[in-house]
Amino acid sequence: MDNFIQFSYVVAAALFIFGLKQLGSPATARRGNMVSAVGMLIAVVAALLDQGIVEYQWIAVGFVVGALIGGAAARMVEMTAMPEMVALFNGFGGMASLLVGWAALVPGSSTFTLVTIILSILIGGVTFTGSLIAYGKLSEKLASGAVLFSGQQVVNSLIVLGIVASAVMFCVEPANHLWLYLVVALSLVFGIMVVIPIGGADMPVVISLLNSYSGLAACAAGFAVNNNILIVAGSLVGASGIILTQIMCKAMNRSLSNVLFSGFGSGKTEATVVEGEIKPITAEDAFYILEAATNVAFIPGYGMAVAQAQHVVKELAELLEQNGAEVNFGIHPVAGRMPGHMNVLLAEADVPYDQLLEMDDINPRMENVDVAIVIGANDVVNPAAREVESSPIYGMPVINVDKARTVFVLKRSMASGFAGIENPLFYKDNTRMLFGDAKESIGLLVREFS
Ligand code: TAP
Repeated sequence: MDNFIQFSYVVAAALFIFGLKQLGSPATARRGNMVSAVGMLIAVVAALLDQGIVEYQWIAVGFVVGALIGGAAARMVEMTAMPEMVALFNGFGGMASLLVGWAALVPGSSTFTLVTIILSILIGGVTFTGSLIAYGKLSEKLASGAVLFSGQQVVNSLIVLGIVASAVMFCVEPANHLWLYLVVALSLVFGIMVVIPIGGADMPVVISLLNSYSGLAACAAGFAVNNNILIVAGSLVGASGIILTQIMCKAMNRSLSNVLFSGFGSGKTEATVVEGEIKPITAEDAFYILEAATNVAFIPGYGMAVAQAQHVVKELAELLEQNGAEVNFGIHPVAGRMPGHMNVLLAEADVPYDQLLEMDDINPRMENVDVAIVIGANDVVNPAAREVESSPIYGMPVINVDKARTVFVLKRSMASGFAGIENPLFYKDNTRMLFGDAKESIGLLVREFS
């Protein structure tokens, strides 16, 4: 039986790795998700057959309740609220590791086991409260800005000292549960403290980092209960989360420490001097310009997700192609609110993958683009990132839509994007603002064409 269980774990681990690999491309991502899910089913069944299990009654109850809540949440969540849901799930993962680690504590545990228990409680606790704060900020149930106060570093250092001291004392005196409770309490407080100074546009990076933490917590819990697949799955989540975090930081040209400790935009007085004026355009006039265009680039952003405009965008792209234009989509790595957000939406609308160009591929072509259609994107096309040194996003690579001959910006108002800063693009000579909900505006253009 034990051989069979260990063999199942190896199969499950291999499926996780294949699944992850397939998640790397939009064309295979769905299959990758399925493959990993099958791996997880095998892992769960094998773990349930493990001899260590005394009774199945409560496991069955947990299984049913968890599956119902998870299934309903995943079905009901709006696409735009996906990052919040991921934040919550990370948090629950952290809490699960905390509880598993805690439950693994039995009299006479070895020092190694005690260390792994403390690690799963510590990382799990930080992940839990950190994720709840991230959820609150993303869903705007809490103010989304960075919370900074004087002496913050000192308070944080004291908490870390308290955690280390209590953890050491716990390993020395495992029978005295006071040390354990202190680690639990301080970890929960520390989770709050590490996420409150991070705000605004940096939250998706934090979600990815917390995702990585939830993996590390699971890995530690795996050591605590001596379960190989939990160690493997936790390591995979930990490693892939940190890689994703690095990719995002690179896309914003920021270091991880800058994201974690600088409090995005706080205290910076942005000195973007905007020149020029806003030039609105009607769908009818936009149509005449588009009809004459031979090269069109769509640059989607968060607003396309809000408007759910992806299907009608695909329709317009087809009409433009039938009209003889070359059509591409420029995808910024942090457009939207989660990694791959735009790819997922465009894949849902069956936009061919070869039309999706990454930022580095579309930027050199921008000067040959007749019309760049910006659909609800703002920060990721903000030329202040190149031009205004005092801007909080200065140095972040952006899609240079302002280099196209004409730019149409589709948004509802002059409101700023997630980073909360002014965008000089809207005032440039070659920019025309097509105000309104993106789905409606594109729908009007489609109607003009047909
Ligand atoms: P944003 O800068 O947030 O701008 C979105 C724009 O969409 C807003 O200006 C809004 O203007 C418009 N909009 C909203 N609803 C709309 C609708 N129904 N129709 C038309 N327009 C609508 O989005 P972005 O350019 O995609 O940038 C993403 C931001 O998130 C960046 O700051 C980025 O650094 C940050 N971020 C993202 C990630 C990931 S992983 N995606 C990671 C880290 C940071 P109106 O209100 O005027 O319509």
